[in-house]
Amino acid sequence: MIKVESLTVEREGNTVIRDISLSWHKGEKIALLGPNGAGKTTLALALSGIIVPESGYIYIDSQPISDYSLTDLRKKIGIVFQDPETQFVTTDVSREIAFGLSNIESDPDEIFRRVDYIIEKLNLFDLINRDTSNLSGGEKQLVAMSSIYAMSPDYIVFDEVTSFLDRRSRERIYKLWEDTPSGLLIITQNFEEIKWADRVILLENGKISFESEADTLLKKNIIHTPEAVFRTLLDENKDFIPEYQQILEILG
Ligand SMILES: Nc1ncnc2c1ncn2[C@@H]1O[C@H](COP(=O)(O)OP(=O)(O)O)[C@@H](O)[C@H]1O
Ligand SMILES: [Mg+2]
Repeated sequence: MIKVESLTVEREGNTVIRDISLSWHKGEKIALLGPNGAGKTTLALALSGIIVPESGYIYIDSQPISDYSLTDLRKKIGIVFQDPETQFVTTDVSREIAFGLSNIESDPDEIFRRVDYIIEKLNLFDLINRDTSNLSGGEKQLVAMSSIYAMSPDYIVFDEVTSFLDRRSRERIYKLWEDTPSGLLIITQNFEEIKWADRVILLENGKISFESEADTLLKKNIIHTPEAVFRTLLDENKDFIPEYQQILEILG
């Protein structure tokens, strides 16, 4: 479990995260929403140990984050950014996927084995042997994710990774979220994406202003996913739809 207690983070003298406490369980998927400048990225950077908080505590599996070596920290938590290119260090897709792993794993056979596994699991055969600079935005994002997945961290943060992607690339990433056993923190401005989460947290001006189980929001139709919109239309028109009951049964 990741436990955050009374966390305060400053950036260039301004308080950006204000006295936040939260828990993130192993395997739990959290959607973190909030307006631009709310502090979402800053919180993610603090959780990943990339920036050091002003005060408060972050524990990963009961151990303070500051006690971890960088290698051990990367085995626990990984982060994928909106602009994957800022993360690229090589020009070759396979080497890029292996890069992070090669920093935490010294056995070359194990590295090859894990990279092959990721390529197969994420069906990246169309991407290997290509130059990272020739990939589309969505393909770049898949490679950036794969290099994090290769390290198989317990927790992964996705910081607005789908915002510049087309529908097809987004669907590929959603499939990946669905199949991932790790805990996920999905930072997004797209309300539709809360359906991949167990819990929703809203961050405003450096504070958690709202928190709920995702199911509750979806069931109450507070968040209009395409399914929810469909359901509402269906309910509104049930008197005119002879198969209404059967459709309900199919929808479950
Ligand atoms: N590198 C930085 N240096 C100084 N201030 C920053 C930096 N990055 C973000 N900030 C400030 O921190 C606040 C929160 O930003 P950020 O965490 O990026 O929010 P969000 O991800 O929710 O848009 C903003 O006021 C922003 O101007
Ligand atoms: Mg951000």
